[in-house]
Amino acid sequence: MATTPKSIVLFASGAGSNAQAMIRHFENNAVGRVVLLVCNNPKAGVLAIAEAHNIPFLLVDRTTFGEKLFLEQLNAYKPDLIVLAGFLWKINPELIHAYPGRIINIHPALLPKYGGKGMYGRFVHEAVVAAGDQESGITIHFVNEQYDEGATIVQARCTIKPGDTAESIGRKVLGLEHSFLPATAEYLLREQ
Ligand code: GAR
Repeated sequence: MATTPKSIVLFASGAGSNAQAMIRHFENNAVGRVVLLVCNNPKAGVLAIAEAHNIPFLLVDRTTFGEKLFLEQLNAYKPDLIVLAGFLWKINPELIHAYPGRIINIHPALLPKYGGKGMYGRFVHEAVVAAGDQESGITIHFVNEQYDEGATIVQARCTIKPGDTAESIGRKVLGLEHSFLPATAEYLLREQ
């Protein structure tokens, strides 16, 4: 018997390459479907990606995010999984408690290294280069009330070679993200 795909809501406010990987993966997928994008930057590249795929989006700002009306709008989409894919704001306790075990984040480093406020995007890769690390990678984890501290679901690693820069490490890390994020989301939806 055919079942209805589960609902995935993306929170993303950057270029949107992970959002695109998620949307594409779930476009013709019996397990899940991306039903909404939540974004806090009206200039973010991810908005054009959502529009191109006919995904509705909700623009939030500091006053509306996490408030009652926002929660009502979000609840209307009945999210089974909320995926932070390049979303930098802290998730407030009301939201975390409304979706226990159903909010995940992707971080472009091997947490607990290079996590916390201000550690995102190229700042992470620059710190990895400055430390002389020989590997980096990604962490997909559940979201709790502290930045980058929820339980890890999966990590994947890449090697850093002599001559690698923050940019080249960033490309390797994004490559890992684009394959592991959709696969992990699908795994979690199947387990629900
Ligand atoms: C991704 O590398 C993601 O891991 C990172 O933002 C980038 C978004 O890229 N998230 C964080 O740094 C969270 N602390 P994208 O907009 O191309 O998907």
